[in-house]
Amino acid sequence: MEKKILFPQVGGFLHGGDYNPEQWLDRPDILEEDVRLMKKAGVNSATLGVFSWSVLEPAEGEFHFEWLEAIIDRLYQNGIYTVLSTPSGARPAWLDAAYPEAMRVDRTGMRAHHGGRHNHCMSSPIYREKVARIDRKLAERFGSHPGVIMYHISNEFSGECFCPHCVKKFRGYLADKYDNDIEKLNAAWWTAFWSHRYNSFEQIEPPFTNGETSVMGLNLEWKRFTTWNTNDFMKAEIEVLRSVTPDIPTTANLMRLFGGLDYRKMAPDMDVVSWDNYPTFHNDWETLADTMSETAFQHAVMRSLKRGKPFMMMESAPGLVNWQPVNKLKRPGVHRLACLQAVACGSDSVQYFQWRKGRGSYEQFHGAVVDHIGTDDTRVFREVAEVGELLRKIAPAAGTTVKPRAALLFDWDNRWAIDDAKAFSQASKKYEETCIDIWKAFFRLGADMDVVGSDEDLSDYNVVAAPMLYMLQPGTAENLKRFVERGGQLFATYCTGYVDKEQLCFLGGFPGDGLKSLFGIVSEEIDSLYPSDRNGIVLEDGSCWEVRDYAEILRVQDAQVLGTYADDFYKGTAALTCKECGKGRAYYAAARTAAEQMEPLFEKMLTDAGIPARKLPEGVECHVRSGESGNYAFYLNSTPEQVSVSGVTGRELVTDVNVEGVLTLPAYGVAVVHSGCN
Ligand code: GAL
Repeated sequence: MEKKILFPQVGGFLHGGDYNPEQWLDRPDILEEDVRLMKKAGVNSATLGVFSWSVLEPAEGEFHFEWLEAIIDRLYQNGIYTVLSTPSGARPAWLDAAYPEAMRVDRTGMRAHHGGRHNHCMSSPIYREKVARIDRKLAERFGSHPGVIMYHISNEFSGECFCPHCVKKFRGYLADKYDNDIEKLNAAWWTAFWSHRYNSFEQIEPPFTNGETSVMGLNLEWKRFTTWNTNDFMKAEIEVLRSVTPDIPTTANLMRLFGGLDYRKMAPDMDVVSWDNYPTFHNDWETLADTMSETAFQHAVMRSLKRGKPFMMMESAPGLVNWQPVNKLKRPGVHRLACLQAVACGSDSVQYFQWRKGRGSYEQFHGAVVDHIGTDDTRVFREVAEVGELLRKIAPAAGTTVKPRAALLFDWDNRWAIDDAKAFSQASKKYEETCIDIWKAFFRLGADMDVVGSDEDLSDYNVVAAPMLYMLQPGTAENLKRFVERGGQLFATYCTGYVDKEQLCFLGGFPGDGLKSLFGIVSEEIDSLYPSDRNGIVLEDGSCWEVRDYAEILRVQDAQVLGTYADDFYKGTAALTCKECGKGRAYYAAARTAAEQMEPLFEKMLTDAGIPARKLPEGVECHVRSGESGNYAFYLNSTPEQVSVSGVTGRELVTDVNVEGVLTLPAYGVAVVHSGCN
């Protein structure tokens, strides 16, 4: 198995984070001290330059890079590598004053004032020009520096702009997409409805608040355009950097399952996927284990954006954050647990926001490795240093990958279409929640799952869950059929196959596009339930799953009925079915039930697929990374109690002892068990 280490210079995992020396240029003593402390914390990387534009170019055309050079040099001389960021995430005041078109226009048509960050217009030619100029200068000055190992593009791309440049670009994008034929667009958007027919692309406006918001095709294309345009902006930055230094890898830091951008469209254009991980630890609505398993899902999303390659956790809070409604401290040991979870799920880095707390402005109270107290004698510093030490111990695991045999399908288009559909029950659509709920149920059975698109190659997987696949892309139905026919176990639910990629409903019964024959059913109606309504699915063994929110009424063609409704006028009709197709099975759950109740079904699917379920003690998770140096099983205990896990064999790398049979994990403990080479 090939080992694809991301950072050969480091020879292991990257440990470090956002570092803002530009806030401390008048304190050389602090900048000196930072290097000493970084070494003490086992830090081998610093992300520099995020939001540094106003110091790098204090006035138009006046560049000051000497301070940055001094820092990069000093870090490198001390074994600390630089992830160099482009500064496009926030603009200096001179730029907005001279070129107001760089400031975004919102959905109401109002132009923003200067300030904040992450709020530039992605289309503005002058803004792109200014960004390209400083990016090129940075690459020319620092790209050949041996300490610079990666480019970090902008920061957390997000948002949309309704300015005249964007409107024009949107029209051009649509004209390309519909072959310059407005009638193709009219047909795709069903514009004969409410007299919404367009005569030309020039008449089209994005969905302004007080404008056209009732054409689902328009709303969806605007979202797709926003991704396309953001990606175009990112690619323009990458192109400049690559033209100077083609060998330095690029990344852009993503944000969980962010709703504004289809990350699957952006991932191919960056070399490495990275993301910023800020769970609400110790909240008052779920257990830490629940928070951790949802975070494992988010890691799986990132891992799956570039399958077979490690990703990076670009940011996480060493202590607390400052922007959540309640900014609670991570309990002792939880920092290490969360960092090792990222690595367990496939990250080759543990990076933080931020290295040192600033004295003023918005993030002055955001957690940092070095607090205002300024010493290494703090709980947070010690915990970070412990992570540094641990990452050194497990360095041979860098470059290995997690390769699940199960996957959950999640499409951004599908999410946008469901959210925008004027149907069902507005408050309970919950596509993401439903996906996460099902993912977690498989996870509790010991199955790590990738999170992939409905058009992706499924041949690595034996089990696929495709909840609420309302929109079918061209080829999705064929993809699912192939998967089942070659022996896959497929699970689908209510709301499958209602619309095509333009959001036009399929005719001839749902699920459309040939999926009726895969599942052996036709969904004739869907009942949306009020929050207090309940129904049930009665199974063959007499047990009953509680139904909430949605219940489809099915006509069964040639599927086996595994469960029927318990109540209402459709009592006794099919609610859970299965059809054998080729060597596999296609299950259809016509109603919403908590995934926890469906675990016995999921367990059967896993068993039938040759993936034996492995139930670990409550609050314990396991992920396996493998590569040419062997398998690394990461065990993470999210409970404040010691737990024992049986059936574990190998060398435990944290304590450096052999385990034969029972692994004991302390409260919030982590273990990395190395076994056999492949
Ligand atoms: C991230 C952002 C960082 C910092 C951090 C605070 O979203 O990229 O710059 O603001 O949040 O948690």
